[in-house]
Amino acid sequence: MKPPGWTAAQWLLCLLFLRISGPGHCYLYNNRYAGDKVIRLVPETEGKAHVLKNVCHQFKVSSCTTGGPMAAQQHLLYLGRNGYRCPYSPKWLSNPVSLLTTSQHPVHIQNWMHHLNKTHSGLIHMFSIGKSYEGRSLFILKLGRRSRAYKRAVWIDCGIHAREWIGPAFCQWFVKEVLQTYRSDPAIRKMLNHLYFYIMPVFNVDGYHFSWTNDRFWRKTRSRNSRFRCRGVDANRNWKVKWCELLLATRGSLFPKVSPILDEGASFHPCDDTYCGPFPESEPEVKAVAHFLRKRKKHIRAYLSFHAYAQMLLYPYSYKYATIPNFSCVESAAYNAVNAIHSAYGVRYRYGPASSTLYVSSGSSMDWAYKNGIPYAFAFELRDTGHFGFLLPESLIKPTCTETMLAVKNITMHLLKKCH
Ligand SMILES: *[C@@H]1O[C@H](CO)[C@@H](O)[C@H](O)[C@H]1NC(C)=O
Ligand SMILES: *[C@@H]1O[C@H](CO)[C@@H](O)[C@H](O)[C@H]1NC(C)=O
Ligand SMILES: *[C@@H]1O[C@H](CO)[C@@H](O)[C@H](O)[C@H]1NC(C)=O
Ligand SMILES: [Zn+2]
Repeated sequence: MKPPGWTAAQWLLCLLFLRISGPGHCYLYNNRYAGDKVIRLVPETEGKAHVLKNVCHQFKVSSCTTGGPMAAQQHLLYLGRNGYRCPYSPKWLSNPVSLLTTSQHPVHIQNWMHHLNKTHSGLIHMFSIGKSYEGRSLFILKLGRRSRAYKRAVWIDCGIHAREWIGPAFCQWFVKEVLQTYRSDPAIRKMLNHLYFYIMPVFNVDGYHFSWTNDRFWRKTRSRNSRFRCRGVDANRNWKVKWCELLLATRGSLFPKVSPILDEGASFHPCDDTYCGPFPESEPEVKAVAHFLRKRKKHIRAYLSFHAYAQMLLYPYSYKYATIPNFSCVESAAYNAVNAIHSAYGVRYRYGPASSTLYVSSGSSMDWAYKNGIPYAFAFELRDTGHFGFLLPESLIKPTCTETMLAVKNITMHLLKKCH
């Protein structure tokens, strides 16, 4: 899909034209993509990538992914405004494309949870920890045998970012697999005997709905803002850990080894996709989960959060370039988990501290969990590396979930052993 023969200078001209032809302000609200154009390009050299990054910054491109010359196959630029001719203008941006099956539909997920709560009451208990901004229940599934009074626990959340649909699909898959195999698989049986799993299949439930009904690429929550018309906060920048502190530490290279999905850090601008919110835990969803985890932090040994896409397994820190004190135990858990993923279909995941592996960001749930005493805090960035990106097709749900399941099992078994 690479437009041939375009130089950095041509892109710049194109963008300039875009700027001139567009009305004054930079953001669309009711239909974020009306008149937008999508440009997909791969800068062949570091120099071109540099120009591109500057251009994106200057023109407040609503979502700009850039990477080094060797990075992933595709980079999407969503560029605002009508009336100019750049190569692509897909209509699908404002129409939800349901490439995943309807079993990932928000209403279906909720019915499914209620159904399990009735049919598997010995292993599953479903409850709500509060309400979303738009008043939807924030449901959790507690999974495990009530075999003893005190049990350690593993927290799993999916769908903090609305458009990352493979996340909620994995949470459902995990529960389904556990229920189907716990009689036959000794490892699963052991997990359910010794641990509780708290599973939140759709963390950002308002945003997830919105991504099905209005905007397939919606990322944030749906809360309103008093000063701006654009809505939503990045629920993974809203946690009380270096909240909205932009640590712009310098790197060896301007461009990291892989293409970051979004700009680094966090933003104070309510119209940005990484808006950190007016204050920490401003989002009812974040506040409810933080409250829940704080109350149970003595029991909860692992925090696992599912995102897409990048094929990475990340651990703290996100907010700074440094390794955590218990590095070796966490690192070996990640190493084994990534090997477990590879053993299924040969898919390679990178692993490492989020800051140096993906990008620096502040106020993330993973750093918060770690800072609050949960020793094993991980964020998965599931398939793929950009070919389909957020629009991972249905045919890839099963293999993605199958390999991810192995990783989660591996991490969980690691927890049940002592690590020094
Ligand atoms: C789940 O089932 C239990 C009874 O087994 C019930 O008390 C509880 O309210 C149910 N949860 C939800 C969210 O309906
Ligand atoms: C991390 O290290 C501290 C102190 O050395 C220890 O108390 C704690 O149990 C360790 N955590 C893990 C996950 O090994
Ligand atoms: C976890 O991964 C390691 C390394 O690949 C492997 O040796 C171990 O058997 C795995 N454990 C489980 C329970 O899958
Ligand atoms: Zn995400």
